Formats: sequence, C-alpha cells, structure tokens
Amino acid sequence: MKVTVVGAGAVGATCADNIVRRELVEELVLVDIKEGFAEGKALDITQTASLLGFDTRVTGVTNDYTKTANSDVCVITSGIPRKPGMTREELIGTNARIVEEVSKNLLKYSPDTIIVVISNPMDTMTYLTLKATGLPRHRVIGMGGILDSARFKTYLQKALDCSQNDLHATVIGGHGDTTMIPLTRLATINGTPVSNMLSAEQLKQIAADTMVGGATLTKLLGTSAWYAPGAAGAALVESIVRNQKKVFPCCVSLEGEYGQNDICLGVPVVIGNKGWEKIIDYKLNAEETAEFNKSAEAVRSMNKVLDTISA
Ligand code: LAC
Repeated sequence: MKVTVVGAGAVGATCADNIVRRELVEELVLVDIKEGFAEGKALDITQTASLLGFDTRVTGVTNDYTKTANSDVCVITSGIPRKPGMTREELIGTNARIVEEVSKNLLKYSPDTIIVVISNPMDTMTYLTLKATGLPRHRVIGMGGILDSARFKTYLQKALDCSQNDLHATVIGGHGDTTMIPLTRLATINGTPVSNMLSAEQLKQIAADTMVGGATLTKLLGTSAWYAPGAAGAALVESIVRNQKKVFPCCVSLEGEYGQNDICLGVPVVIGNKGWEKIIDYKLNAEETAEFNKSAEAVRSMNKVLDTISA
C-alpha cells in the first residue's frame, strides 16, 4: 500500500507521522512546493524509524508528482492555514487554485486513488476536487467531521470527567464555525445518552465550544491546529487501507441523501478500501434537519464563489 500526503506543513507532516508510526502502509510520499521542505520532513520522520519500530519508507519530493504514482490514497493538506481572527472561508481564493492543481496532478499518476481533502474551506475544497477530477463520488472524502467529533468528545469529557474512549459523539454538517452541527441528542457514554447526565445548558455550551474548537486553537497558537487534524486524517486513512468499515462523519457528495443534492457535506459514512461505501441515515429530528439545511445553504453559497475564481 502507498499513501501520498501533499503539503508538508504542520498538518501534512503530522498526518504522515501518524500514518508511519502505525505502519499503515509500506510507502509514504510527502510532497510540497517549497524546495527541499518535504525532503527535510521525510528525512526527519525516517530517522524515527528505528526509535519507533516502523519500516514504512518515507520519501519527500518538491512538486515531483511522478514519485506519487500508484498511490492507493492521496491526502491533500496544501494551502494557507488560518491566522487568528480568520474564518476557514476566507482562505478560499488562494486555496481553490492550489487544490485544483494538486488534485489534477495526483490523478494523472494515480488514476485509481482515493482522495482525502483536508485543505480549507474543506467542504468547498472537497466539492472542487470532485468536480476538477471527475472521480466517482465514493472516492472523494473531505476530512473535518472526524476532527470536530474528536473536539466534541474532548469538551464532553471535561464536563463528564470520563474517558474520551467511552464516548460516541458525532458532528455533522459543514466544517465551519457556524455550519457544524454537534449532535448532542445522539451523544452517548457507553450507550447511555449524555443528556441523562448533563443539563440542556451544559450541552448547549459544549456544542458552542465544539463549533469554535478550531478558532480557539488558532487564537492560542497563532495558526491553525495540527496534532488533532493530522491524527484525524490518519484515522481516516487507516479505515481505508485496513478496510475497517468504521463509521466516521465525512464530507461527501450528496445525491438526495439527507435531502440535499449537488453539495459535499458532512454525514456519517462507512469507510473502507473502496472509499466511502454508504451513508448512514441518523434520522435527524425536525430541529436537526433545519440546522442541516441551514448549514447546506451556507456551504452552497461558498461553493458559488468558486465560479468567480476558477482558472
Ligand atoms: C482545524 C482545521 C484543520 O479545524 O480546519 O483545525
């Protein structure tokens, strides 16, 4: 198995690091446009092999897509990150051009690949990748909901003083501060609804904290986060390459599911070695459906911006 990660910045390198530590693949290629940068990160990661006990071969290249040939999965993290006070949406102009070029280059050398999109604004970049490559929809997956759900669990854990690993909690909708939907009604601790243990007020606060989870980190760090985004990307890659069939909230192209069309948005999907295999219907109630539709409207208007910046 071979995985390519495009963008050797903090998120891409952390994702690569998580993939090789768990020896998910035989070969990992790191690509960046900055001369020598991916080579340096790849060499540094390679020097941890005997310390961590993995045998994955890591190669770094400067914009040389021939080295990415026949990748089973390609992860796109390229683009500029958020600065404090910026929304993910403000990155669209710069990142759209980058993501379009990267996805076409990847497909040239790996026509059978599954593409994972992490670049922001992620929902729109996933939609763009789908359109630019013409790939079947099950082979284009946006990673945002896994990360947002991990953040949701962190805030739930704080309130409940429990193990995060006993929690099942999902964030659907867009990967934006105002478009994501933490499903508090369906969150459980080992099968028991967390609403049995937390007040409506507490749940509201946890949902609000989750929604600005990325912005909180951007403010603290001066740039966007990387440990959890990188680990979330690797978890998605793991379910693909190991054909685990995990249910993850991912941004996928909807054709009538959840009442939406011509949009990529976060819904629970089964992830295996063919990409996303099916969409799980969580049977949203009226309030959640209204929030989902509102989220779709916001993402749809962001997607429209693509028409004005396309090359
Ligand atoms: C975040 C970026 C990766 O939420 O979207 O941290």
